[in-house]
Amino acid sequence: MTRKEQIRSAYRLTGDNASFYDGMMTYSTFLGKAVCRIVWNMDGEKNLRYIERALSGIPEDFSGKLLEVPVGTGVLTMPVYKELPEADITCLDYSADMMGAAKRRAEALGIRNISFMQGDVGALPFEDDSFDIVLSMNGFHAFPDKEAAYRETFRVLKSGGTFCGCFYIKGGCARTDWFVNKLYVPKGFFTPPFETEESLRRRLAGLYSEAEVTAVDGMGCFLCRK
Ligand SMILES: C[S@@+](CC[C@H](N)C(=O)[O-])C[C@H]1O[C@@H](n2cnc3c(N)ncnc32)[C@H](O)[C@@H]1O
Repeated sequence: MTRKEQIRSAYRLTGDNASFYDGMMTYSTFLGKAVCRIVWNMDGEKNLRYIERALSGIPEDFSGKLLEVPVGTGVLTMPVYKELPEADITCLDYSADMMGAAKRRAEALGIRNISFMQGDVGALPFEDDSFDIVLSMNGFHAFPDKEAAYRETFRVLKSGGTFCGCFYIKGGCARTDWFVNKLYVPKGFFTPPFETEESLRRRLAGLYSEAEVTAVDGMGCFLCRK
């Protein structure tokens, strides 16, 4: 299955019974599509583009050690992991509820080469240089201590390893910024301070030996090598 097909299969997985969250992440339900369009200015094609970009650091035949933090409900990544039977995958999240959904999804797909841990990205329970890839999708705009999160994701990555993913950046779409400030921050879904495309590029270039940042409206996608 190509990466695009894997992402599309995530969309199918949510189906008609999808939760609101999964429907939004996968542009697959009426309400989810409405949020993508109204809040994020994203249609199906843009949504697919940012997810593909965020996952682009994972080779299709990857067989090393991968950490995903935060895994959330795993709606975007479990279909990808299903196609990586030789990889050693660890998923971590603060919320047992979100991760419960990811575990059920992994079981339903018959993924065995995966383990789940509840924990804090700011104090990762792993040795230095443990992983070949650290993937972080839609996490940094939620993490309360972003400095610790940048430090810890860097620390546990092997030299030459890949750090990739995506999160909200301010200044990419005025409408998204408005909803984030008026709704997502007060409700506690997102926690400032937020990066801009430029500040993210500078930060990652300062940490990693190679760093690429691509913005899709208010979503910043990154691909770095340690
Ligand atoms: C918007 S969800 C993203 C989940 C998934 N990566 C996705 O793209 O669908 C944000 C997740 O960050 C988790 N989270 C927030 N703070 C965290 C922390 N300090 N350590 C680990 N996970 C955290 C939340 O529990 C939630 O599951």
